[in-house]
Amino acid sequence: MSVAVATKLRGKRICICAGSGGVGKTTISAALAIGLAARGARVAVVTIDPARRLAQSLGLAELGNEPRLVDPARFAAAGVQIDGELWAMMLDPKQTFDEMVARLAPDASTREEVFQNRIYQQLSNAVAGSQEFSAVAKLHELHRDGQFDALVLDTPPSRNALDFLEAPTRLTSFLEGRAVRLLLAPPGLASKVVGRGTGLVFSVLRRVTGVDLLTDISAFLRALGGVLEGFREQANAVGGLLRDRETTFLIVSSPEREPVEEAIFFRDQLRRHDMPFGGLIVNRVQPAELLLGDPARARGALAVPLGDRLAERVIANASDLRSLAERDRASIERLQRELGEPFTVLIEEQAADVYDLASLGQVAGALFAEDAA
Ligand SMILES: Nc1ncnc2c1ncn2[C@@H]1O[C@H](COP(=O)(O)OP(=O)(O)OP(=O)(O)O)[C@@H](O)[C@H]1O
Ligand SMILES: [Mg+2]
Repeated sequence: MSVAVATKLRGKRICICAGSGGVGKTTISAALAIGLAARGARVAVVTIDPARRLAQSLGLAELGNEPRLVDPARFAAAGVQIDGELWAMMLDPKQTFDEMVARLAPDASTREEVFQNRIYQQLSNAVAGSQEFSAVAKLHELHRDGQFDALVLDTPPSRNALDFLEAPTRLTSFLEGRAVRLLLAPPGLASKVVGRGTGLVFSVLRRVTGVDLLTDISAFLRALGGVLEGFREQANAVGGLLRDRETTFLIVSSPEREPVEEAIFFRDQLRRHDMPFGGLIVNRVQPAELLLGDPARARGALAVPLGDRLAERVIANASDLRSLAERDRASIERLQRELGEPFTVLIEEQAADVYDLASLGQVAGALFAEDAA
């Protein structure tokens, strides 16, 4: 059974679109946000690596790590009526991470010391590179600022759903881990534990490369020590936000085999992490009408305007499409069974890529369609 997405979002303020690579997470996030804004809400959508044409449609061509209002004139030109406001941004993971550290630093000199540090530069790139942590941190920041009625978060094309769900805790467990604690320990103790052998390695490294890694590492960790407490609180708060009553995860899938398996896995991980599953959206479904209709009757009807040969070709095409549609139906049934979710939102395969406001508006219309049967 197909239903409208509105019932799934009732009482929610944060909606996270998760799912396998390429299923349409970014498209659906943007369309959901448009649908909510159309109904009068002040919405921000955080997109991750949107296709260039989509970014342009949302007016995101310029950089910037804050949501910007999508010019209402753009919607008017596309014939999409918006009663609220749509704000959109492209996540800049490195900048998000830097801003968070800057906020947490107790004073300007600690902040500068951290930023100048080579280890930090590497670490922040690595963390930013994983995107997951920054995405959730940004979500938390926007939520805390309280400027929006609703936030929609797109998620990175993770190969593994856990990267996202565990992002808030992974970094703190690293920072609180044994290796870091040892290096943060008083100098005497640290050198005793690190041992002479390691010390030798570092000093050889320094002579050969000119890079004083040990000094860099300990300077980094000392500076970071002042940020660590705030970091832990932040990560807890961010983790808490993912479990909040007002947060919901929508799992997006296509009817293809791999995304279906990943959706099932992700549902299971949400349960294990005690995070709220809000519903299933199956995108790029073959139009359902193709499943209906009797080929013989269709042939009879088509032969009149098209002639026999053309009618035959159309029917052959239709029958290919019908088997695709039947495959889709089997996938959808499997998903509904495995996810324990009989009320699925189905979005049809559109005639072309979805990147301009008019086609996003159409997908939004389908997402919120009241008469979905
Ligand atoms: N219902 C649809 N009909 C036709 N094309 C679609 C539909 N949904 C999405 N697309 C197209 O599929 C492509 C992939 O969509 P999108 O970028 O939203 O996926 P994604 O899940 O965000 O991918 P990634 O995992 O790489 O971030 C885009 O070109 C988009 O326009
Ligand atoms: Mg995407």
